[in-house]
Amino acid sequence: MNFIKPTIRPRRLRKNKEIRDLVQQNNIHKNDIVYPMFIVEGKNIKQAIKSMPDINRLSIDLTIKEIEKLFKKGIKGFALFPYNDISLKDEKGTQSTNSNNLINRAIREIKKQIPECVIFADVALDPYTTHGHDGVCDEKGNVLNDETVEILTKQSIELAKSGADFVCPSDMMDARIINIRNALDNSGFENTGIMSYAVKYASGFYGPFRDAVGSNNLLKGDKKTYQMNPANKKEALIEAKLDVQEGADIIMIKPGMPYLDVISQTKQEINNPVAVYQVSGEYSMLKNMIDSGDLSDDVIMESIICFKRAGADIIFTYFAPQIIDIID
Ligand code: PBG
Repeated sequence: MNFIKPTIRPRRLRKNKEIRDLVQQNNIHKNDIVYPMFIVEGKNIKQAIKSMPDINRLSIDLTIKEIEKLFKKGIKGFALFPYNDISLKDEKGTQSTNSNNLINRAIREIKKQIPECVIFADVALDPYTTHGHDGVCDEKGNVLNDETVEILTKQSIELAKSGADFVCPSDMMDARIINIRNALDNSGFENTGIMSYAVKYASGFYGPFRDAVGSNNLLKGDKKTYQMNPANKKEALIEAKLDVQEGADIIMIKPGMPYLDVISQTKQEINNPVAVYQVSGEYSMLKNMIDSGDLSDDVIMESIICFKRAGADIIFTYFAPQIIDIID
């Protein structure tokens, strides 16, 4: 048999690490990473979250210490979520607009200590409602759009007042971006940004997060009347483009790994920065397998670089502390 020698040898560019590094097409930089954190009332409190190995709810003082440490290492962005005691929750999520609630106090204190860190503050009612929905409901349990948007606008103004750099509506109500932008501008917060969770799928991968913010046992029904159907791709463009028109500065897609096609499509179609959230379930899945030894921790960077390859500019990930040490 006559052997046919390769005329083109792509393996040349994989010959050694130095060459591979030189031709690498995507890179993770510390500037790209945002660390989501859970905050709890009290002092010197560190509570493990059962479904999220190595992730803790921290009191404000410990949150500040953690942010200081990571900020020094180069992580600039932090996304904050409050864990509220059930006694603070009601049907209407009243505490969401209280300027002295846990999240507003946390933002003020963090900004006092580390003014340069970039704070992304979630806008939605689920940490505050007894039914676990992101909005208010009628007597039949339907999540009401316009009534919810009114509350979200007030919640956003309080977060902006406390010093949030970006308010981040994660509720998926219609027309919340234009109303929040308008309210911020009319209240003197024209420099507070909006990162919209514009393309948020009704995903099973949020399970551990709901454990972390204490809404998992409360949720009545599901979020499918506002979050998107995982089967739909074009609809993502309707949501993303609407939110850009309405005034969003950054467009978020979430979850991450199951929706790489959506990231890629969105990046091609809009000019604003695109963020992706590697959500709690994605994190815990990988982390459990790494901890059991069944996967090597190479999967951390592999699961992050795929977001860059798909076109994401900013990556929210619970692996942020590990990533910063790996790329250092
Ligand atoms: C709720 C919110 C959720 C997440 C961020 N904001 C969960 C949900 O919609 O139920 C999920 C993040 C994660 O799973 O890590 N407003």
